[in-house]
Amino acid sequence: MRLLPILFVSAALATAWYEKDASTGILKELGPKLSQGARVVFQGEEGFEERIKRRQGWEAPDFRAIVDVKSEEDVQETIRYATRHNIPFLAVSTGHGQSASLSKVQDGIMINMRGLNAISISDDATYATVGGGIKGKEVIDHLWAHGKQTVTGVCECVSLSGVALGGGHGILQGHHGLLSDQILSLRLVLANGSAITVSETENTELFWALRGAGHNFGVVTELKYRIYGIDQYPGGETWSYEALTYPATRENVRAVYSIAKGQMDTQLEGMMIYGMVTLNPQVSNEPILMHHVALNGPLANLSAWTKPYHDLAPAAVAKEEGTFLDLPRFFQIEDRGPACNAAAHLPGTGKVRVPVDIPTYNVDALVAAVDKFVQVRTSNPEFAGSFMVIEQYSTKGVRSIDPAVSVFPSRQDKLLLAPEIFYPSLDAETGEQNRALHELAVQSGEEIKRLLVQGAKEQGGGSHSYVNYAYGGETLEEVYGKEGLGRLRKLKREFDPRNRFGYYVPVEPAEETEGHDEL
Ligand SMILES: Cc1cc2nc3c(=O)[nH]c(=O)nc-3n(C[C@H](O)[C@H](O)[C@H](O)COP(=O)(O)OP(=O)(O)OC[C@H]3O[C@@H](n4cnc5c(N)ncnc54)[C@H](O)[C@@H]3O)c2cc1C
Ligand SMILES: *[C@@H]1O[C@H](CO)[C@@H](O)[C@H](O)[C@H]1NC(C)=O
Ligand SMILES: *[C@@H]1O[C@H](CO)[C@@H](O)[C@H](O)[C@H]1NC(C)=O
Repeated sequence: MRLLPILFVSAALATAWYEKDASTGILKELGPKLSQGARVVFQGEEGFEERIKRRQGWEAPDFRAIVDVKSEEDVQETIRYATRHNIPFLAVSTGHGQSASLSKVQDGIMINMRGLNAISISDDATYATVGGGIKGKEVIDHLWAHGKQTVTGVCECVSLSGVALGGGHGILQGHHGLLSDQILSLRLVLANGSAITVSETENTELFWALRGAGHNFGVVTELKYRIYGIDQYPGGETWSYEALTYPATRENVRAVYSIAKGQMDTQLEGMMIYGMVTLNPQVSNEPILMHHVALNGPLANLSAWTKPYHDLAPAAVAKEEGTFLDLPRFFQIEDRGPACNAAAHLPGTGKVRVPVDIPTYNVDALVAAVDKFVQVRTSNPEFAGSFMVIEQYSTKGVRSIDPAVSVFPSRQDKLLLAPEIFYPSLDAETGEQNRALHELAVQSGEEIKRLLVQGAKEQGGGSHSYVNYAYGGETLEEVYGKEGLGRLRKLKREFDPRNRFGYYVPVEPAEETEGHDEL
């Protein structure tokens, strides 16, 4: 059912009108069960369209209403209501997930998790208790004010849960492992509305699954999450970075990533290398490679690492010293920056990100892949905004943890490579979905991936794609690993037999959502 948008009517009027709708009756049936402060906002009410906007502009999930939850009970009641009426629902924290499977949500209920954003530090200061909808920046800022930090996504604008449930990469992972490795326990609301605790001692099989395939089993309302004192790091509060810009020629890509490959074995725990290939006609008509190197320590220490890159005569160099709080800005992914929030509000920009996780560089293959990306981008002006990332996180902490603790399959992969193709998702003239451009973006991304996978196969890798970067064309083996799939499916049958959580890279296809739960 698609309701006609009611423009310029008061919220109260729209609500009253909606209340008459017998097929949902959200206000009458669910409303009284929600806590004070929780709110239901319907399609057609002012601001609704703005609030369901996502970073992904292609085939977004479709919602009839938003429930702004304020407590775990609100999540339970909303899920009970939705399943009773067989209405699809989706937890949304910050709306950065972009798997195509999300568009299977039609006429659903959006459970807006952002009201669950409390944070408190334990008495012994070893962990924080955080709400299931808290944003990275809220965690970083609160901990910083108390002399603490932890592993969070590099971007300030993504949530903690959304990132951690897929494994989760962050700057401090070289010391402590993935985001998901910091989780001590979670509160999880299941498809039948029950809320349970999941940890190393309770519901242990789910604990294994939630850390890598966590979007499949329930809604996380709270996490206990390890934290660390800033004074324990050799670099203390000081971080520095350099961004070196080169024309993205084959020669430059080969030279830069031959050096980067040589630094993999010695890369410090508090160090991050991050390359980005883009074409920004406002800057230059040639594609550029921006190679970032960041270090927990002063610029004087960083220069030993960046000297060989300087010897390649970059066209430009930017450098700065700051703290952990400045890192997102150094990487140009700060909360209000264009890559973070603004992108979510670019109307109608489709995005196909095609990730490959690999154990080490095959420089020949990378050169060929970047070359392909440059070719695709320069010959398609419609793909403005597209980029390709080469992420060389420190992985010592990740690799030192037993892979058996969680389903996350890529502990031995040291590099995350991903082209991300942007395209206008709606035809400017007809207003129709730009399916041909979407297909071209997919095809281009897949061609780049094929080159990278081929190269990685020579080194025994290339079979994994990070689930949180996946666009939806990946196999389940690629995102969850071959070994874990049977266990995931067994858990699915036990905890979500109707596949209510089947919308984000689902371990079972989402079509199987028919029928009613016993409640
Ligand atoms: C700008 C940008 C920067 C990024 N940076 C990083 C990074 O540094 N490290 C990294 O590993 N990844 C990063 N990613 C990828 C990121 O992990 C995914 O985009 C992730 O899906 C974002 O989660 P979200 O909560 O922000 O998005 P949402 O779209 O709100 O959620 C994504 C999925 O998680 C589910 N979900 C969200 N909250 C909950 C919850 N509380 N309980 C259960 N399910 C929930 C949703 O239902 C949805 O299926 C980045 C992505 C972008 C766009
Ligand atoms: C910076 O370099 C100096 C000299 O090599 C070294 O003593 C110091 O430990 C380094 N600091 C950091 C934070 O790496
Ligand atoms: C909900 O599902 C879980 C897992 O299958 C089960 O243990 C629990 O008893 C169920 N709760 C109710 C109220 O049926």
